[in-house]
Amino acid sequence: MSCVIVVGSQWGDEGKGKIVDLLTEHAEVVVRFQGGNNAGHTLVVNREQFIFHLIPSGILHSEKKCLIGNGVVVDLEVLLQEVTALRERGVSLSPANLAISERAHLILPYHKHLDLSREAAKGKNSIGTTGRGIGPCYEDKVSRVGVRMVDLLDREVFQEKVRENLKEKNFIFEQFFKVAPIDPEAIFQTFLPLADFFRPYVANVSLLIDEAIRDGKNVLFEGAQGTHLDVDHGTYPYVTSSNPVAGSVCAGAGLGPNKIQAVVGLVKAYTTRVGGGPFTAELTDDTGLLLREKGGEYGATTGRPRRCGWLDTVVLRDSARLNGLTHLALTKLDVLSGLKTIKICTSYACAARDLHQMPALLKDLERCRPVYEEMEGWTDSLQGIRRFEDLPPAAQKYVRRIEELVQVPVGIISVGPGREETLTMGNPFQE
Ligand code: IMP
Repeated sequence: MSCVIVVGSQWGDEGKGKIVDLLTEHAEVVVRFQGGNNAGHTLVVNREQFIFHLIPSGILHSEKKCLIGNGVVVDLEVLLQEVTALRERGVSLSPANLAISERAHLILPYHKHLDLSREAAKGKNSIGTTGRGIGPCYEDKVSRVGVRMVDLLDREVFQEKVRENLKEKNFIFEQFFKVAPIDPEAIFQTFLPLADFFRPYVANVSLLIDEAIRDGKNVLFEGAQGTHLDVDHGTYPYVTSSNPVAGSVCAGAGLGPNKIQAVVGLVKAYTTRVGGGPFTAELTDDTGLLLREKGGEYGATTGRPRRCGWLDTVVLRDSARLNGLTHLALTKLDVLSGLKTIKICTSYACAARDLHQMPALLKDLERCRPVYEEMEGWTDSLQGIRRFEDLPPAAQKYVRRIEELVQVPVGIISVGPGREETLTMGNPFQE
């Protein structure tokens, strides 16, 4: 039995969907533990593209069990769309292979309304959220007024909680934001049928994980977003409202830390970020545009163009420490093919200081300038390459340098979107 966690080491969009799908081969259970449908995990199987926002990326393996943990915030309308779309494409989906934690909090229409109203009011100072109601839903959870899956299943409890919450929310909508209030009846009309549909899927996910572990099964935990969007450890306040770091698996899925064997950190071969916030190694020149176009760097959730930059190992060293990374999975190495030289950010120059960790104060971070090391690029395409030794020597050197700078071995390299376009140097479930 092994439990392995996959997390993003940068600002999300590192290609977790593909790697989770690959690692699912070695696992019987796949679990989401934080975030919500702000995530968009893309995978390409037999040239067919799938994008998941809530359902764990392991769902394409029909014999595996996919679980949505209590730490996830669930928009049931989106989940229903995802279930329906997958079924239409022939993916078998039932309570036999999908379960949702009874303790997961629900994203309700007033959360989205609040997210969008706040962002609009902030104008140029907005966070650049995905507008999916993630922050307001987590706020309600922490304020102890959230509505959980299990509350929805009890009609009376659900209606009472929604009515009570709307007293305060509608006051804020009408009096502060000067926008339309929300009618509780409209929520009931949408959500009570959803309760009937999802009732068979609701379970004690912590118990299911425990049973799987006791049966000697391998469990894979699928992180969403990335370490530097973590509400505690990221570039606050330009972060999401959950903890994408590996440690949050324990609270967000319901198991103890002694059950975890390995933590795989996803690293894109360069850096991207979507939304506002500091980005020290950002490229606002033609190379940045080239990375965006060649890498298809447009958000899977919102379609927004992603900001692009060189690989930043200050970001990665922080991630290695914060997550206890045991392996790196390097994605999109093929996107760098054709560049004459490649830069790696090794530290930050900040007011005559050489920083090796990201400063906590936003103002300091904004003042940091990247210190780069330049490496030779490679011209050959990486298409068809399946072994590390077959990579162009300059690409091998780039990978080895990342390992040296981050002090974590690279176990997987992805050279294209397809399942088969992967070089595997180790299996985290076996080490
Ligand atoms: P929220 O999670 O919608 O509140 O957005 C907060 C910040 O996190 C914004 O900058 C978003 O663009 C960013 N964000 C949220 N989810 C993702 C993701 O899955 N990938 C990349 N960025 C994300």
